[in-house]
Amino acid sequence: MNERLKELIGRLEIKHSLSLEEYEYLIENRCEEAAKLLAEKAVRVRQEIYGRDVYVRGLIEFSNICKNDCLYCGIRRSNKDCDRYRLSEEDILSCCEQGYELGFRTFVLQSGEDGYFTDEILCPLIRKIKSLYPDCAVTLSLGERSRESYQRLFDAGADRYLLRHETADKAHYERLHPAEMSFDHRMQCLRDLKEIGYQTGCGFMVGSPFQTAHMLAEDLKFIETFRPQMCGIGPFIPHKATPFKDEPGGGLELTCYLLSIIRLIVPDVLLPATTALGTIHPTGREKGILSGANVVMPNLSPVSVRKKYELYDNKICTGEESAECRNCLSLRMESIGYHVVTDRGDVKRLLT
Ligand code: 5AD
Ligand code: FES
Repeated sequence: MNERLKELIGRLEIKHSLSLEEYEYLIENRCEEAAKLLAEKAVRVRQEIYGRDVYVRGLIEFSNICKNDCLYCGIRRSNKDCDRYRLSEEDILSCCEQGYELGFRTFVLQSGEDGYFTDEILCPLIRKIKSLYPDCAVTLSLGERSRESYQRLFDAGADRYLLRHETADKAHYERLHPAEMSFDHRMQCLRDLKEIGYQTGCGFMVGSPFQTAHMLAEDLKFIETFRPQMCGIGPFIPHKATPFKDEPGGGLELTCYLLSIIRLIVPDVLLPATTALGTIHPTGREKGILSGANVVMPNLSPVSVRKKYELYDNKICTGEESAECRNCLSLRMESIGYHVVTDRGDVKRLLT
């Protein structure tokens, strides 16, 4: 590894910041040794803040109906082969009940942008979950909504919101999305969420079509300035019914490299080793944890709908019961010396 790389990594660890050009250099000149050094440092800072605890989030994919048409996504509205479903309130509550039994203390309610789920429907549901499980956090992942709506959902008791920015490069964003979707609006949503008081998560895909090292550097700079409480990154995986079906997917090594860098930029960030990472490699999630991630998000959705929430091809865990996933993940984490804990897993913010 050259001296410049070494110096950049050392400085990143101390200052949590590099210039855009330096981030780009770090990405362009990635080598095994640099990856190892970054992972060592990332694991050390994560250890200082979160120990060897791994937080689990029970993901409830409650509707795959979506008005958006993101070019990379398997549940985009143009995909006529997608078998659409919507869970009832009763179904969702039963996922929570099972999840609670299994030791989950965060429920992530995720869906496509489904107009059926108005604030009038969602607020009572959130209130109900919070009253049944007062020791649990509710995370929403419902896409773009108005500031007023975000405020109402927050007032109903939602604690966290995940909205990946997808790419911090506006021109790149426009190549991945149809003209009616707006980069500026998405970024505005993220600022609104944080201002309202949600623990807010942004994130992006690694290896998405047209992505360059410069664009990844922009993502890192955005994360440095936005300082999210959570950050979801995972490899892009082509879906057979999208325009990007023949594109190459993102890689394990680059994703893990970026996880380590993000841990050093925002030491206390809640950083998942995503299901997509587990999809591209049998031990991808373990490798993610060993690169500085500290969260896993197994599926709590009913097995009957799991295959239908197919953002990308070959998604794992679509045939398993929730209990199987939870056990499997515990074993996987134990196998690398980490422990899945029964805990809300809030951010341990060092500085605000
Ligand atoms: N591959 C990987 N991730 C994807 N997502 C959507 N489609 C894909 C794909 N083909 C990610 C997006 C979205 C999140 C819910 O899933 O980043 O924000
Ligand atoms: Fe689902 Fe292993 S995490 S089966």
